Amino acid sequence: SFEQSLRPQKLEQYIGQEKVKDNLKVFITAAKLREETLDHVLLYGPPGLGKTTLAAIIANEMGVNIRTTSGPAIERPGDLAAILSGLEPGDVLFIDEIHRLPRAVEEVLYPAMEDFCLDIVIGKGPSAKSLRIDLPPFTLVGATTRAGSLTAPLRDRFGVLSRLEYYNEEQLKQIVIRTAEILDTEMVGSAAAEIARRSRGTPRIANRLLRRVRDFAQVKGDGRITMELADYALELMQVDRLGLDHIDHKLLKGIIEKFRGGPVGLDTIAATIGEESHTIEDVYEPYLLQIGFLQRTPRGRIATELVYKHFQMEMPAKKK
Ligand code: ADE
Repeated sequence: SFEQSLRPQKLEQYIGQEKVKDNLKVFITAAKLREETLDHVLLYGPPGLGKTTLAAIIANEMGVNIRTTSGPAIERPGDLAAILSGLEPGDVLFIDEIHRLPRAVEEVLYPAMEDFCLDIVIGKGPSAKSLRIDLPPFTLVGATTRAGSLTAPLRDRFGVLSRLEYYNEEQLKQIVIRTAEILDTEMVGSAAAEIARRSRGTPRIANRLLRRVRDFAQVKGDGRITMELADYALELMQVDRLGLDHIDHKLLKGIIEKFRGGPVGLDTIAATIGEESHTIEDVYEPYLLQIGFLQRTPRGRIATELVYKHFQMEMPAKKK
């Protein structure tokens, strides 16, 4: 698909995440030299940093097929059993949002990961029989935004644990330039840098902003992305100088205006601004924590002095 064609197919084309890449290259090369399947890999970190892309690259580098599914999509043990028994030897099974696998399904996964087999119970009561079915060897690649939400037995069965980190501006700029080339769009370097600066360390956001800026360039300009055009388009999309959007603003201003800067509990602030607690925790909060705009304390979230500065607001005097 179009989306797929933007994605790098090889580790060499993948920009950033140098530590993750260097390690994966060693593990992939070693597995291939030994003619073994790659050990199971857990990719974790905030959304949009390239976990799905890396899973596809792992399969591609290993020269095997990838089968993709997600935690919430596998409702019953039988669903997983069907997927596992349909794999070819060496295949990558990619399970996105693996922390959302139902517990009963997770238990099917343990012997599958460890011994490449399924333990099936047939019948009920005293006449019940247990059957062991061999599976083709495979590599499970799991992805999660919250490694802390995985059960210990599941986490322990991954041989490779890779944490993805936010990208720096230079890496994002390279990604934006690469994508613009694939989209056959002319763009000045300063515009690429500006999109990168406002992408919250996240390639998915950078590529989305690039596509929208490109739309503006096509309709309001001559198709080329200039600095002025990028700035104008980002302004209209309500993406501020730091890349914070409408929802970041609602969250931060909510904490400041309704709770004197906090501390305020996650569920309380979520209800106040009408967003899901999970969305705030998985999507919005990680970047705001990273840039030091939010702090998490046992009593709740606090907006830091940087937020007041960003909004040019006066910080209230400390409570006694
Ligand atoms: N597109 C999205 N993420 C990318 C990355 N990390 N490297 C290259 N292209 C990308």
